[in-house]
Amino acid sequence: MRCGIIRGMNASTAPTSVQQPRRVERLVTGQPTQDGAGVKLTRVLTHDLQQRLDPFLMLDHFASDNPDDYGAGFPDHPHRGFETVTYMIAGRMRHKDSAGHEGLLQNGGVQWMTAGRGLVHSEMPEQEAGVMEGFQLWLNLPGKDKLCTPWYRDIQSAEIPELVTAAGVTVRVISGESQGTAGAMQRHASDYPTQPLYLDLHFPAGGAAFSQPLAASHNAFIYVYRGAVDVVNAQGEATPVPLHRMAILANEGDGVSLRTAGAGPARALLIAGQPLREPIAQYGPFVMNTRDELMQAVHDYQAGRLG
Ligand code: FE2
Repeated sequence: MRCGIIRGMNASTAPTSVQQPRRVERLVTGQPTQDGAGVKLTRVLTHDLQQRLDPFLMLDHFASDNPDDYGAGFPDHPHRGFETVTYMIAGRMRHKDSAGHEGLLQNGGVQWMTAGRGLVHSEMPEQEAGVMEGFQLWLNLPGKDKLCTPWYRDIQSAEIPELVTAAGVTVRVISGESQGTAGAMQRHASDYPTQPLYLDLHFPAGGAAFSQPLAASHNAFIYVYRGAVDVVNAQGEATPVPLHRMAILANEGDGVSLRTAGAGPARALLIAGQPLREPIAQYGPFVMNTRDELMQAVHDYQAGRLG
């Protein structure tokens, strides 16, 4: 069984304007932690938010100019049952997996990996100095696809479609669609129910605004990684989202309306997807539907069947 196959998309009939923008349901401060062999990072989307932000399981933000914070990297480790989406803002990371695949992820590029039934891989910095910054998002797979054939794609920065709005906001469309521009990753809803939207928004200085239609059923959040952004609700009231905060957007209305807060420029991720509404059973790098499936994953890993 395969999953993650890209197909051509038909012309979009998606709405382009927003009349009833969502309000902020909750602001979240990430938790400083370490992962891999001791990489310091901020876990923005933590375990306790997995149900609320279904189908998203985790979002990490790593950002440091100190090699002691990132140099140890993420040596060989397994995954099963979900997808990892790694977006490099600055720096270089080399990945190698147990099937012999290897690639270099760098400045502005994305690796979209469907772990499916499982693999063992490493993600190691390819630099000994300088800034390393990026994000890793974990996106759940429906039960029917959790044991599919592993698959991944390295998307170089130049392959990520970009648009610039009339207000001067640069939109990098990693997946989904914005203002008629289809993202780098496109898959049909019929065999890919989560339909993730992943936008990187670069706001110029001076209060530029940006709106994105969203289905009310899709769970959605923004994460501000430069400057500060206002979320403007249907009454025209602004909720400021400070630097390094996530805003969970209420499931209502027909989209989200954002603008810079203050005079300076800002950058934010806008991420949304259709919830799977399936049981989530996680044990470290394995995310399945049931405890039995988790035990099978651990057993398969220990028996060397993931590599
Ligand atoms: Fe990994």
